[in-house]
Formats: sequence, C-alpha cells, structure tokens
Amino acid sequence: MDFTQIRQFNFPTIIRFGAGVIKELPAYLKQNNLRKPLVVTDHVIAGLDFFKAILADLKEGGSSVEVFSDIHKNPVKSDVYKGTTQWDSTSRDCVIGIGGGAALDVARAIVLQINHREDLFKYDDLIGGDVFVTNDVPHFITVPTTAGTGSEVGRSAIIADDETHQKKILFSPKLLAKIVFADPLLTMELPAFVTAATGMDALTHNMEAFLAKNYHPLCDGIALEGMRMIANSLEKAVKNPDVESRSEMLLASMMGAIAFQKGLGVVHSLAHPLSSLLDTHHGLANAVNIPYGMKFNIEGSEDKFYRIAQTLNLKELNGDAVVKYLFDFNSKLGIPHKLRDIDVKEEHLDTLSELAFADFAHPNNPKPVTQKDFRDLYGEAL
Ligand SMILES: [Fe+2]
Repeated sequence: MDFTQIRQFNFPTIIRFGAGVIKELPAYLKQNNLRKPLVVTDHVIAGLDFFKAILADLKEGGSSVEVFSDIHKNPVKSDVYKGTTQWDSTSRDCVIGIGGGAALDVARAIVLQINHREDLFKYDDLIGGDVFVTNDVPHFITVPTTAGTGSEVGRSAIIADDETHQKKILFSPKLLAKIVFADPLLTMELPAFVTAATGMDALTHNMEAFLAKNYHPLCDGIALEGMRMIANSLEKAVKNPDVESRSEMLLASMMGAIAFQKGLGVVHSLAHPLSSLLDTHHGLANAVNIPYGMKFNIEGSEDKFYRIAQTLNLKELNGDAVVKYLFDFNSKLGIPHKLRDIDVKEEHLDTLSELAFADFAHPNNPKPVTQKDFRDLYGEAL
C-alpha cells in the first residue's frame, strides 16, 4: 500500500436512529425555521397509516404540508419535473423524502433540480455532469421506510429517461440529506417478500463494498459489521419480525450504503439489466445473482473471503463456504436459486450480458469482468 498517496474519507450525515424517533421531526423543522415542507413519497406509502400520522404531527407542529407522490416504481425524469413544479407553485422551504429507494431518489433529484434548472440529465454523473452541481440546494431530510437501498444516506439518485428507460445517475455530495430520521417502527409492517429482497440488497452492498478494489479500511470495517448484523437478523425480520431485528436491518442497510461509496461490483452489474429489461425487483435480482457473483470473485480475494467467513461465523473459513452460505440463506428466505425461476429466459442472456458489461458497478469489482464472463455467469445462474 502506498501511504504517501493522499486520500479523503467522508462520513458527514447526521443519523437520528431508534424506535419512535420520527416524533422528533416537527421539532427539528421548527428549530431550523422550516415551516413549508414538500413531502416526497410514493403512492403506496401515501395511503398508509404511519404516513398519515407523520403528516398529522407536522401539521400539529405548525407546518403547512404539501405531498408529492406521483412517481413511478422505477422513477423517470418527468416525475422529478412534476415534483419541482409543485415546489414552485406552493412555495416550499424544504424537502422531506419518506420511503424506499424510488421515493428517496426522486426527492433527491427534486432537491437538485430546484436550484439547477437546466435539463436534469445535464447533471448525469456518467458524462461528468456533477461539475455543474454548483449552487446551494434546499434543506433535505430523509426518512427510510425499507431496510435495503440505504438511499437515505446516499449522495446519488438513479432516474431513467421517460422514453428510452436508460438510467442516469445524479451525483453530488451536496445531495446528502442534512439529517436522517431512521425509525425501525416504520418498517414493522413490511411484507415478507419485500423484507427478504431489500435485505439481500443490503447484504450485497456490504459484501461488494468490502471486496471492492479501492483502499478504504473505514468502509471495510462498516461493511463487515453490516454483514454480521444481516446474518443475525434478516431471517427473523422476514419470518417473525420484532423491533430488534427491524432495527438491526435498518442500521445494516444504512451501513451498506455508507460502505458502498467505496464501490460495488459484479453482482450489481448482473442485477441492473434484469430491472431495466425485465422489471425485476432490484433486491431480488441481487439475491439470485450473489452466490454466482461471489463464486466468480473468490480467485485472488481468498484473504477477504476468509474474513467474510469469519464474520458470518462459518465452520470453514473460505470462499466456497461463503457461496454455500448464500445459497442456503436464499433458501431460508424463500428466494429461488435460479434465474429461470424469476422469468429470465435463454434468449435474454446475450442482451443482458451486453447491458451488464456497460454497467457502472463492475469496474470496482476486485477481479476484472469481461462480457463473456457476464454471459457465462448468467448461463450458470439460469
Ligand atoms: Fe443495490
């Protein structure tokens, strides 16, 4: 390791965490002289009791509240424009994102667009658009309602083009939330499938971040502990949830997203095309692919797999044992082992491989991945 090279490590987000912490939100707004939040969520959450209770508390605290929930499951640019129009027409003073990855991504993109009025995709990070994110952004607060993406602590938003469905990444440290209210009670009623799939997304974030090739021992430590907590809690959160398992999962999902500032890898590149081509749930796509992606990664990362196996408390401390653990874990959570069981067909594999090779995640994988490798991995997983 070259210790003369100067590096930067960032962990700036304030996280208020614990059962019932959402009750602090009205007082927080008051202390910060904020009275007119634009609350961004999805239409499912907009109808849930806990959401109505949050709105009622905000109104009782003296806030004038506007809700924007007209968003797609895989958010598109026009969602962001609609939300920005609502911000303008109702003269708001802050943005509160409440939800899973989609709602929080749209909230974050609205936060960007409010003081950056050129075409949203001018700011696409993949074409260097982050340099245009130069103005201040409104006060941004996030409230996660799933334990998976960790978008609440993220600094990027994935938004697709309405017509081409091509995904763009809006990125800037300015897009970090000022504060996160992470309340496990808001995740208590998540259905078993959503808990399992989002939980496996969080496990994939932690595992891929730990293996990613960049040097970041701070993230490595967080990722290992995140994996241990998920191994300890996910099955319980799926089958018989209690506050403890929901709390560990909520924390571990944030830890995964904090850790993956270091990078992701081959599994996310296998998963992304399944969502864009076949509309597969992101967490499910990761869950099915992770044993195959990790088997591919063992060669050259034996020391890291030893540490993962230690963390997961496995009898054999090697990569093969980690792969077996992942298959067994999927079985316990009711997640299939094969892509054919989630509607992938042989004729999809060439297109999927092309898209996976073009994906942004795998350049940080510890081992280089070719398009043929992707084709072979999909073939094995089919
Ligand atoms: Fe993910």
